[in-house]
Amino acid sequence: MKDILPPESAVWQVVENKLRDVFNLFGYKEIRTPFLENLNLFERGIGEATDIVEKEMYIFNDSKGRQSALRPEMTASVARAFIENNLNQIQSVHRLFYVGPMFRHERPQAGRLRQFHQFGGECIGLNDPISDVDVIYLIYQLLAELGITDFTIRMNSLGSQDSKQKYSKTLREYLSSYKTKLCDLCQDRLDRNVFRVLDCKNDECQALTQSAPLILDVQSKDDQNYFNQIVHILEQMQIPFRIDPRMVRGLDYYTNTVFEISHPSLGAKDALGAGGRYNNLIQSLGGADTPAIGFAVGLERLLMILSQEKILKNSAGQDKLYLVSMGEESMKQNYFLLNELRKQKFLVEMDMSCKNIKYQMKQANKLKANWCLIRGEDELTSQQIVIKNMDSGDECKILFDQLFEFLNQSVKSEI
Ligand code: HAM
Repeated sequence: MKDILPPESAVWQVVENKLRDVFNLFGYKEIRTPFLENLNLFERGIGEATDIVEKEMYIFNDSKGRQSALRPEMTASVARAFIENNLNQIQSVHRLFYVGPMFRHERPQAGRLRQFHQFGGECIGLNDPISDVDVIYLIYQLLAELGITDFTIRMNSLGSQDSKQKYSKTLREYLSSYKTKLCDLCQDRLDRNVFRVLDCKNDECQALTQSAPLILDVQSKDDQNYFNQIVHILEQMQIPFRIDPRMVRGLDYYTNTVFEISHPSLGAKDALGAGGRYNNLIQSLGGADTPAIGFAVGLERLLMILSQEKILKNSAGQDKLYLVSMGEESMKQNYFLLNELRKQKFLVEMDMSCKNIKYQMKQANKLKANWCLIRGEDELTSQQIVIKNMDSGDECKILFDQLFEFLNQSVKSEI
């Protein structure tokens, strides 16, 4: 778990603001849910035989012996909030987005943390290929807004719950004849969650699954037709993607469309983001029969890809001012000026420790101030102020009365 300190926190703010703008454009509204949920929600939602539920959750007993867990992801929480707040009675379609911390007790390494952040969106109430396409398109727009274009989206369809069950049986039958050749973990997975064998990183397990039947071939005509329509629309929109007929996801709630987003700088092991359709989750948690699709992207992984410097530079739209004081009286007068400038939404700082001018100019440079406003006893007496443009080095002295006119004309302020 890591602290996010300045100046990195400024990068987070810029990225989050950009993401919010794109979500708004696509009609998504923000949802914030508690970090702590009843453990049972994740067991039922994500699935008991998944890595997240079996090994990765932070679980607590409260004083009454109830078990709570820190949320490892948001989809189950959003589904719970949807049911509990009767959102289906307000309107039939909800588009919800979130940005926030998730918790998984994984072995920490680059791009894998125990407290990490996701941004994601859930489109609830639609079951039409266009809505799947729109979620994929949203991901493209979110990443494009941040200047990321060299990512790959791999897609597959798991089919409906019925098709999934049929495929589990087919795959189990096929793999059973090779049971002793599978790794210990996969021998166990064979009975408990056979899809996970397709995900195993063990070479021998991978080789054995190469000629296993494919889920796309086993699913119903309706499911195949649904997926083909998505593929067709994405092709018409010239949105690049790849079909990966072996991809299954590590969470049990998925049905039909699933996808993963990868990026060359993260390597094959770690996805940048992922998602899919979960048409049965809300009903299985006690809600009405409500189809849905969503995705989530890991923010730490996203930030590993981005040039943080470029992000900050491109977003530094507002000029920074620094007030320099020579002597105690000018420091006090500058403090009043500081507050006046703050009121007028200028980005401004000053030294409050009465250090010498050399130190203050150094601070101004460190803060990358664009302008210094300098006053000493002389300037106070003559009611003037020195203005130094830190980019060009030019300096001039003007009447204090004309300061705001000057600033309004010359200083870039975007608030
Ligand atoms: P997920 O694949 O478990 O899906 O996680 C989505 C993304 O969260 C990953 O691709 C990765 O970028 C990030 N992530 C996961 N674990 C870690 C970690 N330990 N450290 C850093 N980043 C991590 C879900 O969570 C689903 N809820 C996505 C979804 C939304 N499906 C439908 N709606």
